[in-house]
Amino acid sequence: MTKSTDAQSVKSYFARAYGRSPDRIWAAPGRVNLLGDHTDYNGGLALPFALAQRAYVALGWREDTAVHLNSAGFEPWAGTLDHIGPGMPASWAQYAAGTAWALGITRGFDAAILSDVPLSAGLSSSAAIGCAMGGALANPETVGERHNVVNACVRAENQVAGAPTGGMDQTASMFAAAGHALLIDFGRDSMMHVPLDLSPRGLAILIINTRVTHALADGQYGRRRAECQEAARQLGVTALAQATPEDAERLDGILARRTRHVTTETERVRTAVGLLNAGTPEKLGPVLLASHTSLRDDYEVSCPELDTAVEAAMEAGALGARMTGGGFGGSALALIREADRPAITEAIRIAFARHGFTAPEMFTAVPSQSAERISL
Ligand code: GLA
Repeated sequence: MTKSTDAQSVKSYFARAYGRSPDRIWAAPGRVNLLGDHTDYNGGLALPFALAQRAYVALGWREDTAVHLNSAGFEPWAGTLDHIGPGMPASWAQYAAGTAWALGITRGFDAAILSDVPLSAGLSSSAAIGCAMGGALANPETVGERHNVVNACVRAENQVAGAPTGGMDQTASMFAAAGHALLIDFGRDSMMHVPLDLSPRGLAILIINTRVTHALADGQYGRRRAECQEAARQLGVTALAQATPEDAERLDGILARRTRHVTTETERVRTAVGLLNAGTPEKLGPVLLASHTSLRDDYEVSCPELDTAVEAAMEAGALGARMTGGGFGGSALALIREADRPAITEAIRIAFARHGFTAPEMFTAVPSQSAERISL
């Protein structure tokens, strides 16, 4: 699975930047969420899988407390461990550096980072960097140690990067399995691998990156989260996913809609897991489409580009489609028959051009393995 060229590239990149060999290399994937969005911070269910696209981190320890970070395409970052903490650094380096802070690392290090996870596309490029960095720094060997890395990455994202996210991305990156989706129950704190066998059935998940960038720290995401907390408070539950779709009707306006999304989305994940376990992924279509409608109308996190991607894919014969991830841009996914790919991608391209939108990037998402140590 690991393309040795990628590991080799990050190793050479490290050598060029620091004039020595790294002590350790870790790789961690981006993720796409098949179903279950805005459920993680509500104690609900999510069903992501890991992408084949990954971030690679080559790490070398230092004798002092200096930290040097190099990532292709970005200004190198240099500081010391004292320069890392809540709100700092305020640059691309916050995920990589923040993970060291959250892990309580006390020794300086040099790191080189390469990634082919599309940036700002709702595919968790930041979580991939955080988890690859966490892997390289902590070298987790047990499930418990992997959980510690997940928790540190989430703390880094929440406190250093200032994005109040819920942990699905990092959990997928550290625990996914090839050929499977990962059912995560945030209420019970449990996980299960669910078979996602698409290509033998002539099926594929097409990712449509709208290239509309989304920022999880821009306030909209936090506002949704606060509304859910308020709805949970009014309903007297500790997490909103404990409520039912009927409970939603007891609330007013916006809070009713938010609650309806969270509770029905959790039900949809249950339905999807049943279909996947029964070996009938081709039946997922209507569940995916219902999720999109709910995110668009009740949770209000879609945008014209995502709606266009979904509508064009459906009109051209997709079995189902939905926006995926945090929303306000980023990517949509479509469950398609492989044979229909040319017609569907063409229809999406035409629809984007007709609306005057930037041409989308499209590729097949292959359910891949979680983060791993790469032997040097
Ligand atoms: C982003 C966040 C996740 C999750 C999704 C929405 O990806 O990082 O924690 O809340 O949005 O499902």
